[in-house]
Amino acid sequence: MNVRMAKRGAFITFEGMDGSGKTTQLRRLAARLRGRGRTVVETAEPGGTPIGVQIRRVLLDSANRELCPNAELLLYFASRAQNVDQCILPALERGEIVLADRFTDSSLVYQGYGRGLGSENVLALDRIACRGLKPDLTLLVDIDAATSLERAHARNAAAVSRDRMDEQSLEFHRTVYEAYHRLAAREPERVKLVDGAADMDAIERAVWELVSAHV
Ligand code: TMP
Repeated sequence: MNVRMAKRGAFITFEGMDGSGKTTQLRRLAARLRGRGRTVVETAEPGGTPIGVQIRRVLLDSANRELCPNAELLLYFASRAQNVDQCILPALERGEIVLADRFTDSSLVYQGYGRGLGSENVLALDRIACRGLKPDLTLLVDIDAATSLERAHARNAAAVSRDRMDEQSLEFHRTVYEAYHRLAAREPERVKLVDGAADMDAIERAVWELVSAHV
């Protein structure tokens, strides 16, 4: 079935550097939408389904230092393919609102640019895994690379184990930051920047202003 034809709900994704606060904002948006009587499905990548959660463990386990860039890319898309088929498309077909914590844009900036695998390879996998499904709106919660790394390290220090992706260099995070900004400049209609340095309530209001036009 053609994905676009089947789609009736709204698909909104949150993107941003690690530690941007996007997950908190996603939850707040979900609560607001539910408060207005909307049915909302919250999902996350990697993860989102029981199989995706298992793939997430492999991807983020800091013991997996030998995971090669192509295997990493394919695992992110394996998780996504499962999420699209099992969770996202069925919810959209039921007319629900799907909020996703990361989607293909993350692979584009982290693997396509950060790892240097190229956007064409990422988009080729997107065609297989997502079959034309694109977010209606993407909220890019914007913080700089140094802040991102600082917050990620603080989070790791408090956690039982370190996260493999958070262990990347400042240079890697700078590349990701620049790639996110290029993406926002290339697709201004879909990708909207939200200032991640503002206080939580101000970010929530900014997100709502953008979303209320779509739902
Ligand atoms: P999270 O902390 O937002 O759950 O994301 C987990 C990590 O995975 C984060 O460092 C970003 C990274 N990531 C990619 O590198 N590529 C992807 O496609 C996705 C979805 C996440």
